[in-house]
Amino acid sequence: MQTPYFVFDKKRLIENYNYFNESCKKNFEKYKIAYSIKTNSFNAVLNELAKQKTGFEAASILELKQSIKYNKKGFKVFNGPAKTEEELKIAIKNHILINVDSKSEIDKIIRLMKGKLLNIGIRVIYDIQDSKFGFEEKRINDIINYCEKNNLHVVCIQFHQGTQINLKNFEEGIKKFAKTLDFLKRNFEFIDLGGGFPDKFKLGTLGLRLEDYFVIIKNNLEKFKATIILEPGRAIVCDVFELITKVIAIKENFGIKHAVLDAGTNFLPRMSCAFYKFEAQGDKKENNKEEYILTGPLLFANDSFGKFHGFLKDGDLIRVKNVGAYCYNLSWEISYKKPKIISKL
Ligand SMILES: Cc1ncc(COP(=O)(O)O)c(C=O)c1O
Repeated sequence: MQTPYFVFDKKRLIENYNYFNESCKKNFEKYKIAYSIKTNSFNAVLNELAKQKTGFEAASILELKQSIKYNKKGFKVFNGPAKTEEELKIAIKNHILINVDSKSEIDKIIRLMKGKLLNIGIRVIYDIQDSKFGFEEKRINDIINYCEKNNLHVVCIQFHQGTQINLKNFEEGIKKFAKTLDFLKRNFEFIDLGGGFPDKFKLGTLGLRLEDYFVIIKNNLEKFKATIILEPGRAIVCDVFELITKVIAIKENFGIKHAVLDAGTNFLPRMSCAFYKFEAQGDKKENNKEEYILTGPLLFANDSFGKFHGFLKDGDLIRVKNVGAYCYNLSWEISYKKPKIISKL
């Protein structure tokens, strides 16, 4: 088999989805799961999740079409700061909940609806770093009034806190959000908390479970009696893919050993915010460990992943774990084509 290639584990995907769903069931009276398509949009991933009756979260025309293809009748959410008229028309026609992100987007929807009523959501932000998204908290009330005056009925409020967030920051965010909801004195049908729940590896390093996050949501937001929408990506797919890559060259410069692999940051991007775990296949030697800098094949000095301890030689296969979130979708074709995906037997 030509390396590098991804291995897709369908059984793991279903287990992860069921675990997420069961954890929601335990903590929320009413909830909807809308899987974040951007996190991994491999056909078989979307197909299997659709069979589990999950909803989908879309962030572009491509993803809107995928969400409709795989889940014609199910629950769907449309997010993003750059929604075009064409995308909005598709979302409206297919009864997809639009979380509005700017005044200009609201005006586009008003024009498209020509006075007819539409239920929408609205995204709130608190941090200047998130400025390109949604509306800052102090504007929310006015924006809701503007929507309602124009026959856009605000049924949902969304607050996405970023990704791989630790529990303390998550709790602070949820408490702040609960204060906003108290202040607004409005019954929203949906409270959408976006995605970003840490993957299993991150939870492991934090000594936490997914449910620790859900309990915080329950304790702070249950009183609003809304349906909780969650848009998980990495929590469901983080360990559903592995990447098999090969050692192409071992070299030593300035006393430091390097193992050059045939996959680099082109397929294992830093932007994924995932912690990759490298395991040499068949390397059982406990002693005899040497230290290598693992690097990719690209002609960039920063195409490297840190240290590896073991014993490597040309042609050895390396299994990279925790690559299910964003690696396939963010893979870029520079010098090499995107890796193929095979299904685990
Ligand atoms: C609004 C929203 N929902 C869901 C997600 C999915 O995040 P993750 O894959 O980290 O769970 C993102 C990711 O950035 C997002 O911006």
